[in-house]
Amino acid sequence: MSKQDGKPNLRSREWFDNAGNPDMTALYLERYLNFGLSQKELQSGKPIIGIAQTGSDLSPCNRHHVELAKRLREGIREAGGIAIEFPVHPIQETGKRPTASLDRNLAYLSLVEVLYGYPLDGVVLTIGCDKTTPALLMAAATVNIPAIALSVGPMLNGWFRGERTGSGTIVWKARELMAAGEIDYEGFVKLVASSAPSTGYCNTMGTATTMNSLAEALGMQLPGSAAIPAPYRDRQEVAYLSGKRIVDMVHEDLKPSDIMTREAFINAIRVNSAIGGSTNAPIHLNAIARHLGVELTVDDWQTYGEDVPLLVNLQPAGEFLGEDYYHAGGVPAVVNQLIGQGLIHEDAITANGRTIGENCRDAKIEDERVIRPYDQPLKEKAGFRVLKGNLFSSAIMKLSVVDEEFRKRYLSNPDDPMAFEGRAIVFDGPEDYHDRIDDPALDIDEHCILFMRGAGPIGYPGAAEVVNMRAPDYLLKRGIHSLACIGDGRQSGTSGSPSILNASPEAAVGGGLALLETGDRVRIDLNKCRADILISDEELEERRRKLDAAGGYKYPAHQTPWQEIQRGIVDQLEEGMVLKPATKYRKLAQG
Ligand code: FES
Ligand code: MG
Repeated sequence: MSKQDGKPNLRSREWFDNAGNPDMTALYLERYLNFGLSQKELQSGKPIIGIAQTGSDLSPCNRHHVELAKRLREGIREAGGIAIEFPVHPIQETGKRPTASLDRNLAYLSLVEVLYGYPLDGVVLTIGCDKTTPALLMAAATVNIPAIALSVGPMLNGWFRGERTGSGTIVWKARELMAAGEIDYEGFVKLVASSAPSTGYCNTMGTATTMNSLAEALGMQLPGSAAIPAPYRDRQEVAYLSGKRIVDMVHEDLKPSDIMTREAFINAIRVNSAIGGSTNAPIHLNAIARHLGVELTVDDWQTYGEDVPLLVNLQPAGEFLGEDYYHAGGVPAVVNQLIGQGLIHEDAITANGRTIGENCRDAKIEDERVIRPYDQPLKEKAGFRVLKGNLFSSAIMKLSVVDEEFRKRYLSNPDDPMAFEGRAIVFDGPEDYHDRIDDPALDIDEHCILFMRGAGPIGYPGAAEVVNMRAPDYLLKRGIHSLACIGDGRQSGTSGSPSILNASPEAAVGGGLALLETGDRVRIDLNKCRADILISDEELEERRRKLDAAGGYKYPAHQTPWQEIQRGIVDQLEEGMVLKPATKYRKLAQG
């Protein structure tokens, strides 16, 4: 960083210490003095560090960041910076209608404006609940000012009658128990609430634990920090250390583009397989990469991630929860196992200024029940398979959650053990599914394939987490829980269903799913990575002509201005669901 008049050449000086523009400097200064900052400190050459605050009463998962920000400020101050805390558009996964993912790009956009348009030299990204992590990393990628992420940490383990209850995951089980008449509504609420015993985000390997782990694997958090449970004292300590560190990052001019390189993304893809990460991860990581201008495709997830085994034994794929993950060694222990196999680009630089190799080379597994050594995995090949065909140009499947029941019913042909055919049952959006799933007229049997369409970024603005559909009551009562599900929407990371999801292009833009009809035969070949409707090309063309003549696939009307705006400019899930016009804006802070 070049220095004039003995002070570092910080972008905040444009506002607060600009000799060439004394009028504006006075105007900028006076209002930031009105709550007690002094002219002297704002003109001292100290970096101004933003705290992008995602916590609030509306965002319970991230609310603890309101407390952590106090320790962050102490760290920033001690290292010679000035903290300025500001709110980020709230996103609560479980609270926002119609879906929290609608707001990911809105939070991104607004944070870009804040980081670009205010006197900030660096920023702490307070990440946590599902969409908050990608939204903040995407904005940091676009503006490219020095940034460090601080996870809020998972909730403590949930317990019910001596068993671990995982947030999110328990809801699926509780619903089935209630549908089968085994518990009443009061029992349902009690069981679900037991899984959320403290402040913090979901304690399962859902999208939050996934994205916070990957933010560390990408190098954007201090090593070892992602897994620390929210209420632990270590969480407060790492807030303080992150505050100290961001000041140094500004002095070193260590930017997101220096950290989040293609090598770092490939590291993250591999870590995602090893932790059994959420199917939302490809969407979000591809989005961050696009805003950085780093090449990353959905196929990279299969190429680099598929063969990596599952090492982390967390619900929904396994048994344990967030506290256990932390005590077992967290992300560094997982990375260390991958380093042992030559699967990590060890030179990737991280937020602490050291490489991921230096950070994790000596990390140990502290509890092998929770994090397995590489040669004793929970499952082989835990990554995603990318399917293509006349139904879509890409959709992903997480093979590690295929269970015995599913395998027996769908993958039992000894001549062709990785392929199955079934009769399609098609639903147009979640409401249609809820209205009709238990209707005996559909005559769903245990070999049918349920389809959810109209649930992509445009069909259901933001893409709904609705692809994993429970079987109809009459099958549940016969003990049949999982039917094959395919759709152009997403699936909650806390759901353990073996769905084929994130199908792109979605029905709403005329993807193959729009041409499917209930009763069609569909063939899925997991070996050949194919998914096709078994009808002739002529018949498909005829259906397309009809669809076009009818004005295309119909989806519900916009409910809010943002839904309309986003629908007009959003890309498909395989492209990260980014706002297309935004991807050409890069490195705004350097511009
Ligand atoms: Fe916020 Fe799961 S709902 S992290
Ligand atoms: Mg979710």
